[in-house]
Amino acid sequence: MNPQDPDAAAPVPPLPAAAVASPSVEQKRAVEAVVVKAAIAAAKADTAALPQPSGTLEAKADMADADGAMVCDACEYCDDLCRWAACKACNEKEERIKARPAPRPGCGRFTTCQLRRHCTKSDVWLAAHGVVYDATEILEEHPGGVRSILRHAGQDCTEDFDFHSKAARGLWKDLKIGTLVHCPKDGGDSRCAIM
Ligand code: HEM
Ligand SMILES: [Zn+2]
Ligand SMILES: [Zn+2]
Repeated sequence: MNPQDPDAAAPVPPLPAAAVASPSVEQKRAVEAVVVKAAIAAAKADTAALPQPSGTLEAKADMADADGAMVCDACEYCDDLCRWAACKACNEKEERIKARPAPRPGCGRFTTCQLRRHCTKSDVWLAAHGVVYDATEILEEHPGGVRSILRHAGQDCTEDFDFHSKAARGLWKDLKIGTLVHCPKDGGDSRCAIM
């Protein structure tokens, strides 16, 4: 082929230096997807023989560090569990929790470390006036929209509770799963965490 031929396919121009130096959102997402897929595969391979604790494998994948290795971010002072199915420490902790008598419905005791985990569309907890609520069931039908609840997911929203009508507060009551307590790391005992 004649290199001077104007009809010859032009070579692909190299990416501009700026694009290489600062990858686009798409490029970042692609890299992220590879890391997440690898983490899920590793977690699946690792955990085939283990009981699956709370949380999805996909959620656990966001715990992979830069090298793709899993890290446990559970609070070691309370019943908090990380979302990594293969976490030995958390699997053992979960067994100890299960061995205790289960609380009566609505009478659980949860630390803020535990509360903050429940912050996804499929698992939304809220706290108000020291009470913990599971809002997952009503999320889609909430008159104030899904976003208003999700913005407070896993957190205290006492002010927002107070804004609701008496009838609405009655609905909240039905969703009570327990009380908020201090993590031993924050002083412990059975005090309510916000009052
Ligand atoms: C378990 C949790 C919740 C339940 C059961 C609930 C229930 C309700 C109900 C029944 C209403 C209708 C109005 C009323 O009767 O007061 C309402 C409205 C509303 N809620 Fe909630 N809610 C919850 C959480 C939240 C949270 C965390 C926020 C955060 C900002 C919020 C924001 C709103 C807003 C802005 C409205 C007004 C919608 C409007 O009138 O246009 N809600 N909620
Ligand atoms: Zn863990
Ligand atoms: Zn804790």
